[in-house]
Amino acid sequence: MKTAMQLMPSLRAIDTSIGVRELANINSRAEEMLANVRDAMLSPSPAKIAPTFTTTTLSALCGIDKTRLNYLISKGELPPGEAQGVGKSRIFTLAEARQWVRAESGLPLRPEGKSGFSIVAANFKGGSTKTTTVMTLGQGLTLRGHKVLVIDLDPQGSLTALCGLLPEKDVVEEDTVIPLIYGDMPDLSYACRPTYWDGMDIVPAMASLFAAEFYIPSQVMKHEDKFRFWEIISNGIAPLRDVYDVILFDTPPALSYLSINALMAGDGMIVPLPPRTLDYASSASFWALFSDLVENFEKQGASKRFDFVSVLLSSVASDTAAPIVKDWILKTYQQLVLPVEIPSTSMAGTMSAQFGSIYDISKWDGNTKTYLRAKQAYDGFVDLINQKIIAKWYGEDGGQDVA
Ligand SMILES: Nc1ncnc2c1ncn2[C@@H]1O[C@H](COP(=O)(O)OP(=O)(O)OP(=O)(O)O)[C@@H](O)[C@H]1O
Ligand SMILES: [Mg+2]
Repeated sequence: MKTAMQLMPSLRAIDTSIGVRELANINSRAEEMLANVRDAMLSPSPAKIAPTFTTTTLSALCGIDKTRLNYLISKGELPPGEAQGVGKSRIFTLAEARQWVRAESGLPLRPEGKSGFSIVAANFKGGSTKTTTVMTLGQGLTLRGHKVLVIDLDPQGSLTALCGLLPEKDVVEEDTVIPLIYGDMPDLSYACRPTYWDGMDIVPAMASLFAAEFYIPSQVMKHEDKFRFWEIISNGIAPLRDVYDVILFDTPPALSYLSINALMAGDGMIVPLPPRTLDYASSASFWALFSDLVENFEKQGASKRFDFVSVLLSSVASDTAAPIVKDWILKTYQQLVLPVEIPSTSMAGTMSAQFGSIYDISKWDGNTKTYLRAKQAYDGFVDLINQKIIAKWYGEDGGQDVA
């Protein structure tokens, strides 16, 4: 009787083992494919392009009517945009639209002498929409007149990709937070770079960010308890608080040294939470881990208070389980839950596949109702967070303990 191997001689001849060289080959094929996909998505331009605004969308953004808008254009005080023909609408660039918002919307801006406000999006559960939340919040806050810095602390670099940069192609280690972590740079000014989106700069990420997870504990061992590792990023953004109105952190889905740093650097925290059983369960362990951690830091003389902590019901599906889990979330997190929910839409998937978000759309060719529902939800979310930031600048105080 023949053995199985004798029956399948060809298997013996094939070496199916995979070593470093093969892994490197897979990696370079993936990088090449991603670069091609990105270029195809962004075609005909090689870079991402910000949306434009019509007279109607700009009026809505500023909260003024078209008569006033036309009057201001006739006075020549604000950018006139580009006329599309006699009696037709005008087209405004994002930069022009932001100039209009700052001048006309009446929305409060950062008062002189006040520091930029930092917010961290955190949840150790993967896929809980942290990156989407940071991207849309960043874009939304620029559309309310603010200058925003987004800091990508996730080696996956998804936020970096949404901002039009490919982590392994357009970013090197020196462009990330790593030189700050190594103590080679005193603060993060070196790493802030403009994006395609007027008013939004980024500190990008790439895979080498993992190095922080080895370097930081080695320094802790070396300097014993004297090395306050949780303050590296917080110290690194200190001078940037004069430059930016809002600084947002995107974090990896894990309790890493970088996510701890971001949590400690945030004045506010947003926990995006899709109402799904597993997301709910893991959010419970997030609070447990984080409060243990802060308690430990406090024993070492650190202190942590958030100006606000908000739970965002995100990617809310219309299935039968969602209302049940939503009820658990409301009962658990009570007043921390923001009074807005982001619906789950296939549009979000389409947009992220195109390296974009809802705010990247100038004109939606698909279902208008779906688009408006999602857009209104994101606008509502951005407004709520903007109000919290403004309240902090203009004096309504009140922090929330975490430990
Ligand atoms: N409102 C939404 N409806 C449907 N899908 C969404 C919505 N928001 C985000 N998504 C999709 O969910 C997926 C996860 O989102 P995202 O990358 O923002 O999560 P994340 O928490 O940052 O993930 P990770 O933990 O891996 O960093 C993405 O494919 C994104 O396009
Ligand atoms: Mg992410």
